[in-house]
Parts: sequence; structure tokens; C-alpha cells
Amino acid sequence: MTVELQVAQGWLTVCELSSLIPGRGVAALLPDGSQAAVFVDRAGRPYAIGNQDPFTGAHVLSRGLVGTAGGRPFVASPLLKQRFDLESGRCLDDEETVVRTYPVRTAVTS
Ligand code: FES
Repeated sequence: MTVELQVAQGWLTVCELSSLIPGRGVAALLPDGSQAAVFVDRAGRPYAIGNQDPFTGAHVLSRGLVGTAGGRPFVASPLLKQRFDLESGRCLDDEETVVRTYPVRTAVTS
């Protein structure tokens, strides 16, 4: 199984699902030069959000700590610790701030 993100050009394979470890993100470089932070939960469900921390501008969200709040997964920035919902990209600590999310899917590779 591979993990694919939807970008302007279509579905982009970013890595093998088996190479993702629950709780640890990876950064993926996208064709437009931006970066996504890709995560998988313990059920094997993938998530992808922008890797750039909007509060500092640093590309670090893939290195954040993952947790859950109200049953929903989030990543906390390793810098100032703001938490971002992995499904919606909304900042749980500042309701005006959102990071982008990417449609993500797993695909069977032959
Ligand atoms: S294969 Fe997933 S990060 Fe390299």
C-alpha cells in the first residue's frame, strides 16, 4: 500500500504506508515546492496537512508530537506547541488560524 496526496497535478505517491509509524510524521516535498506533513493513526488511516507552522514560518509540523483531543488527532508544533487538527487543519489554540489539508488516500500497489 502506498500513501497518495491529491495535488493540482493529481494523486501523488508520497511513500509506503508501512514506512509510516503512528505518532511520527514525515515531510513530503510537493511538485509546487511546498511541503506536506503526513501522518498515520494507529488504525492505519493517513492524514496530510501543510508542513509549515503558520506561527513561525518554519517547516516543522511533520516533527511535531501527535495526540488526540476530543477523539480527534492533532499534531502540536515542536516550536510553540500550538495544536493543529489533522483532519481539518484548524488550530485548536487559535481559532483564526488554519493550515491547509490535503486529500489523502491509500492505494494498493501491484
Ligand atoms: S518512504 Fe515514506 S518517507 Fe520515505
